Amino acid sequence: MSTAKKEYKRVTVKSLVEMKKNGEKISMLTAYDYSMAKIVDAANVDVILVGDSASNVMAGHETTLPITLDQMIYHATSVVTAVKRALIVVDIPFGSYQSDPKEALRSAIRIMKESGAHAIKLEGGIEIKESVKRILNAGIPVMGHLGLTPQSIYKFGTYTVRAKEEEEAKKLIDDAQLLEKLGCFGIVLEKIPAKLTKKVSEGLTIPTIGIGAGKYADGQVLVIHDLLGMTHEFNPRFLRRYMNLYEDMGNAISRYVTDVKNKDFPSDEEQY
Ligand code: KIV
Repeated sequence: MSTAKKEYKRVTVKSLVEMKKNGEKISMLTAYDYSMAKIVDAANVDVILVGDSASNVMAGHETTLPITLDQMIYHATSVVTAVKRALIVVDIPFGSYQSDPKEALRSAIRIMKESGAHAIKLEGGIEIKESVKRILNAGIPVMGHLGLTPQSIYKFGTYTVRAKEEEEAKKLIDDAQLLEKLGCFGIVLEKIPAKLTKKVSEGLTIPTIGIGAGKYADGQVLVIHDLLGMTHEFNPRFLRRYMNLYEDMGNAISRYVTDVKNKDFPSDEEQY
């Protein structure tokens, strides 16, 4: 039997379901700007999420709540310009879909039309059923997001692991089944026990993408700034850092400052 993976010139929502069926894990990472998205795409990441985590890592807010729809569209447009292969999913930000399904559809249409992205993501289960239906009916692919949903952080009160108790775990399973039934193409599971991820993932044909949800998810997602070690004060157990850019960039910038101060930069060769 061949173990060669199928090559995807352009990843689509269908490719992701196919990857799950073939037992191929899905890689997903965030990006918010042209230069980073170009690097992420060239490294063959399957899905690029223009996450509302831009509110934290790009704008410096404490939560994802302040970022606006216009700002998300700005980030998404830059990413779309850079990307050739990955599927691009964009978060609908807090306050742009919760009040009614028509508003949700209007926001989703703005993202798709103005940025050129391929799909949207929203947080929640049964509470947003009508919005999901309406967006899907307009032909826009929808990704769900269950478990720790950062737009509800003030309701939860903490960023600790969700769905440890039976009642919440049962609701999460029901919500995941509902999102699949409605027609979502995938679900992000954030910060839930690995055993629950296994149960949810095995009960679905659409892929689950985990962040702090353990090894049984059909794919993994991280915030790019965390993976690269730019956010050095954020140290959750689930995070694997592949670089320590906070330190490396700081050192490089300090060397530049020293070179300028010492009149060592620019040299004769570095001028016209
Ligand atoms: O906004 C984001 O980056 C996300 C991921 C944490 C899944 O939603």
